[in-house]
Amino acid sequence: MLDQKINILAIESSCDDTAAAVLSNGKILSNIVATQEVHQQYGGVVPELASRAHQQNIVPVIHQALAKANIDKKDVSAIAFTRGPGLMGSLLVGTSFAKSLAMGLNIPLIEVNHMQAHILAHFIEEPDFDKPEFPFLAMTISGGHTQIVKVTDYFEMEVIGETIDDAVGEAFDKSAKILGLPYPGGPLVDKYAREGNPKAFKFPKPKVDGLNFSFSGFKTSVLYFVQRETKNDPDFIEKNLKDICASIQYTIIGILMDKLKKAVKETGINQVAIGGGVSANSGIRQALKDSEKKWGWKCYIPKFEYTTDNAAMIGIAGYHKFLKEDFANFSITAQSRYKF
Ligand code: KG4
Ligand code: ZN
Repeated sequence: MLDQKINILAIESSCDDTAAAVLSNGKILSNIVATQEVHQQYGGVVPELASRAHQQNIVPVIHQALAKANIDKKDVSAIAFTRGPGLMGSLLVGTSFAKSLAMGLNIPLIEVNHMQAHILAHFIEEPDFDKPEFPFLAMTISGGHTQIVKVTDYFEMEVIGETIDDAVGEAFDKSAKILGLPYPGGPLVDKYAREGNPKAFKFPKPKVDGLNFSFSGFKTSVLYFVQRETKNDPDFIEKNLKDICASIQYTIIGILMDKLKKAVKETGINQVAIGGGVSANSGIRQALKDSEKKWGWKCYIPKFEYTTDNAAMIGIAGYHKFLKEDFANFSITAQSRYKF
């Protein structure tokens, strides 16, 4: 039937956000995220606590998503869920729940790769947002990943560059921790950076071949810099927080943009999308906007609610798999290192 609605219920539980969304024909009807506050006091995600919090949150979050979308369980066409990559204990909660619910409702199950979903978030129907055309380059920047991906179709993606150690989100969060800021520090570095001088302090950029990244040396250079300066002046951080954050952010964005420029040059593709938690960063968003004027790129910058982990992106990936009837077998299991 032509007018039949495809309603996807999507579940995301790969790290420390329990999320559910309902999409109807690719349009978001609800997008609920329960962010787990419990990790803040530990300065990072504690896997065992994350898994337990997912178990507590998953039912109310799904209820809320269905209620807000005004969709009854029996009108759901398929369940999409994050199979990986992520924390095993966290993924298992979403995976088992999705399997049981799809089995109970007797509807198809759709497995989604979290990193592909960060990219496919650009295909969510949104007024005033253009969708990328194939082929395009996507830079996925999050707390767990840093990749440049050549995207030739919805599920035809090739990683052409990635980090050989820490992810860019870790570079933000670990630098923030060194400065005494709470977890996750990325958004705070961004906030202070807006009022600081990006050229106040200089940090070295790593030398890595090709399109790959490295951030572990950067984090160490921030640590040594702060140790050295606070030895001379114990109030150094307090007095210079905005300038330090601006300089850290400026260096990180420089590292990302250098590789992106190289990727555009090497592939001849100048349509560039960003995704993942760090794509919420005001500096990287501005750098991409500037590149449209400077180099004639066409850039795709996601809406804020689709940058950090959410289920809407799992839902849009699920919707495109539904159209291809690419359904998962009920014997499927979570995969913490899920490559594509
Ligand atoms: O995609 P995401 O929610 O989870 C993962 O899949 O990892 O990304 C979380 C990461 C964290 O490292 C967080 O500090 C970073 O995204 N982040 C930011 C900003 N907002 C979130 N980093 C820099 N600036 C921001 N505004
Ligand atoms: Zn993510």
